[in-house]
Amino acid sequence: MTTFRIAHLSDPHLPPPAMRRSLRDIFSKRTLSRLAWRRKRNHHSPAVLADLVADLQAQRPDHIALTGDLTNFSTPEELAAARRWLEDLAPPEQLTVSPGNHDALIAADGDRFAPWRPWLGDEPGAGFPAVRVRGPVALINLCSATPTALHLAQGRLGQDQIARLAENLRALGEAGLFRLVLVHHPIATGAVSARKSLVDAEALRQVLQREGAELVLHGHAHEALTMQVAGPAGPIPVLGVPSASAIAGHGEAARWHELAIARGAEGFVTEVIARGLGPEGAFAELGRYRLVSPRR
Ligand SMILES: [Fe+2]
Ligand SMILES: [Fe+2]
Repeated sequence: MTTFRIAHLSDPHLPPPAMRRSLRDIFSKRTLSRLAWRRKRNHHSPAVLADLVADLQAQRPDHIALTGDLTNFSTPEELAAARRWLEDLAPPEQLTVSPGNHDALIAADGDRFAPWRPWLGDEPGAGFPAVRVRGPVALINLCSATPTALHLAQGRLGQDQIARLAENLRALGEAGLFRLVLVHHPIATGAVSARKSLVDAEALRQVLQREGAELVLHGHAHEALTMQVAGPAGPIPVLGVPSASAIAGHGEAARWHELAIARGAEGFVTEVIARGLGPEGAFAELGRYRLVSPRR
C-alpha cells in the first residue's frame, strides 16, 4: 500500500521587514494591527519557525500545505519577504499556500498575491478554488482572505468560489481522488468567535454535506483543533494546527502535522502524526491517530 505524505503547517506570521509608513497606513487597519503585533510579537519566534521547518523538511513529505497568515500587515514588503521564505521552504510544485486574513488586511490594487502565485495553484491566474492533483490526492485550495472592518478577522469565500468548489468536489470525487480542502479560516461551528469567523461557513458546509470531501485543513485559530462537519457518507474531519512560530507559554506552541494518506480496503486511511515542541525544547512526535474516510 503506497502512502502519500502531506505536511500541514499554518500561521507562521513572519517577522515584518522594516516598513515605509505612508499616510494611508497611518489611518488604516495596519496601524492598529501594528499595535496588536507589538503585543503579540513575543509570542512568535523566527527560531522556533526555523526549527519547525527543519523538522518538517527532514521528514521529506511529498507535499506541503500552508494555510495562511504568512504576514502580519500584508504590505508589499512583507509579501516579497514571504516569497523568499517560500522559495526556501519548497518548490511551488510541492507546496500549496492558502492565504489568510493577515495576508489581505486592507484593500489592495491589482493582484495582491502575485508574488505567491506559483504556490497558489498549477494554473497561473486561474483564481480559487485552485485544484492540484498529486498522487491519490486532489488539493482543493480555497481563499478566505478578504479585507474586513477594523477589529475583525473574518473570512469570506463568496458565492462564486463556493459554486466552483461544488463542481470540483463532485468531479474529483467521481475520479476517486482523496479530496483535501485547504482554507485559512475554521469551518466548523463554534471553532472561533464571530469576530474571527468565516462568514459564509454555512454555505460551505452545505456544499460539503452534499458533495463530500475526505479532509479539511485550516489555520487561523492558532490551536490544534480536531472537529468535523457533516458529509454525505459520514462526518468529514476538519483539522487545525497552531501557529508554526508560536513559542510555548502563550497559547499552543508551534506544531505541524504529517498526514500519511493511503488507500485501504475500507476506503482512504489517514494517519495524523503531530510533531511539535517537546519537553526538551526540540521538535518531536507528540502523538498520532488514524482517520478513516468511508469508501464511496
Ligand atoms: Fe494567524
Ligand atoms: Fe488568521
